[in-house]
Amino acid sequence: MSHVVPSVLFVCLGNICRSPTAEAVFRHKVKEAGLDVSIDSAGTHGYHIGKAPDSRSQQAGQARGYSFAGLACRKVDSSDFEKFDYILAMDNDNYNNLIKKSDAQYHHKVHMMMDFAPAYDNEVPDPYYGGAQGFELVLDMIEAASDGLIKDIRRKF
Ligand code: 4NP
Repeated sequence: MSHVVPSVLFVCLGNICRSPTAEAVFRHKVKEAGLDVSIDSAGTHGYHIGKAPDSRSQQAGQARGYSFAGLACRKVDSSDFEKFDYILAMDNDNYNNLIKKSDAQYHHKVHMMMDFAPAYDNEVPDPYYGGAQGFELVLDMIEAASDGLIKDIRRKF
């Protein structure tokens, strides 16, 4: 790939639970790994534009040492497909939506987040309407996939 700094966009439905959690976790792990990666997150729908991540996501993530400072909800933009090297969907709906929204020349960039942690389910379940356990599962899955993604970036860049 031609970029010097690899770039990753995490995508879920609302951009207030799963994808901001992925952004926070991945920022932390990339820094720990001493890598330079451009990182962002977005939602396929615009219900919560401009809002901070869900307080339950923030609490669960902060308890594991992740920072959500400065994160604000935004919607996926058509320019994202050109800008980012990795566009990572949390579930099949997000994936199908991204494929539908984008030109075929960009489809090779769109993957399931959990392709980077094959021991887990392939979809990160939406925690929005569930209990605290759902937010812990999101963190477990995203931590594992983030480690796999860092390995992939090291191999390819
Ligand atoms: P997320 O969770 O996609 O992980 O951010 C959701 C947040 C909000 C809604 C759905 C899912 N909502 O319908 O408002």
